[in-house]
Amino acid sequence: MSKIALTYDDIQLVPTYSNIASRKNIDLTTQITKRYGLLMPLVASCMDTVCESEMAITMAEMGGVGCLHRFMTIEQQANEVAIVANALQNNTIQNIWNVKANTWQYTQAIPIVAAVGANGDFAERANALVNAGANIILIDVAHGHHENVKQAIALLKKTLPSHVDFIAGNIASAQAAKDLEAWQADGLRVGVGGGSLCTTRLKTGFGVPNVTCLQEIIAVTTLPVMADGGIRTSGDIAKALALGSSCVMLGSLIAGTKEAPGKMIEKSSGLYKRYRGAASLETKMIHQQEQRNVEGESTVIPFKGGAKFVLEGLLDGVRSAFSYGGANTIKEFKPDWVQVTNAGLTEAKPHLL
Ligand code: XMP
Repeated sequence: MSKIALTYDDIQLVPTYSNIASRKNIDLTTQITKRYGLLMPLVASCMDTVCESEMAITMAEMGGVGCLHRFMTIEQQANEVAIVANALQNNTIQNIWNVKANTWQYTQAIPIVAAVGANGDFAERANALVNAGANIILIDVAHGHHENVKQAIALLKKTLPSHVDFIAGNIASAQAAKDLEAWQADGLRVGVGGGSLCTTRLKTGFGVPNVTCLQEIIAVTTLPVMADGGIRTSGDIAKALALGSSCVMLGSLIAGTKEAPGKMIEKSSGLYKRYRGAASLETKMIHQQEQRNVEGESTVIPFKGGAKFVLEGLLDGVRSAFSYGGANTIKEFKPDWVQVTNAGLTEAKPHLL
């Protein structure tokens, strides 16, 4: 089939009648899986320069969640989960999450998400992660529409306790969404080759631009969709939510913050941290994996300070978008959108200077 596929820069949302009196009252609660909710729709990506326990705790304090990456030993990852689980017992975090307890039925517990693969030690790893306190297992596979993922979900559903939900991906087609739902995934991670460091589309020719990818999948699934890869601004987050995503996964936007794993790098031009693709040569070398099938880049990005400040800025932008879209909640946020030309894209950016 050949058809045109669009991505975030190809569209703009159309302002809608609004009676939103204050952006402060906008409710950003949402779901990440069938049974687990979030107070706001941002998820830290399971990359080794984005999310370990420090980032996951900060995300939880903000009402979101961080997915603990799997590029470490089972013991180390289970320990990271345990650190997050212990921190989530504290009153500050409990209070943040209890604020809406009376009205909010989305979640059965504060979500703790950790990633596993779909072969090798994945079953032993998932078991250790759940024992340490994880209640959502994310099956972190570049091509999630795969028999291994089907088998992995089937095995883990049988062996892990029933309170555990599963997010599967990454996928980029309606058929994949239908199949993963049939294979009993509880949430979908959507987007192939659109991440800021991805070279999958160049290397393999595969991948679908994000807007069309989300549209096709959201049209056929009842599961919560997490839009993953290529989100550069709060405007992109708004577009992903407007298309019907439940939440978005962030890599580059929160890499380079204090809470992201990795040392600070001092250069004459300023402070930096490393950000590397999960399938980059650097990641494979550091974690002593076979140095083949490289499908990602690595780089340094400017140090951004605390993640809370970055996240607050993004959420301010999203709440502002909801005001333009006349929506009080994520479910209500369904503005119309138009496709734009290159001239429209130029106009959308500051163009006087
Ligand atoms: P952003 O744009 O937020 O994207 O930085 C983060 C997402 O990119 C994906 N990812 C990769 N994709 N090769 C890829 O093709 C890689 O090496 C790689 N590393 C991360 C992943 O979905 C992540 O959440």
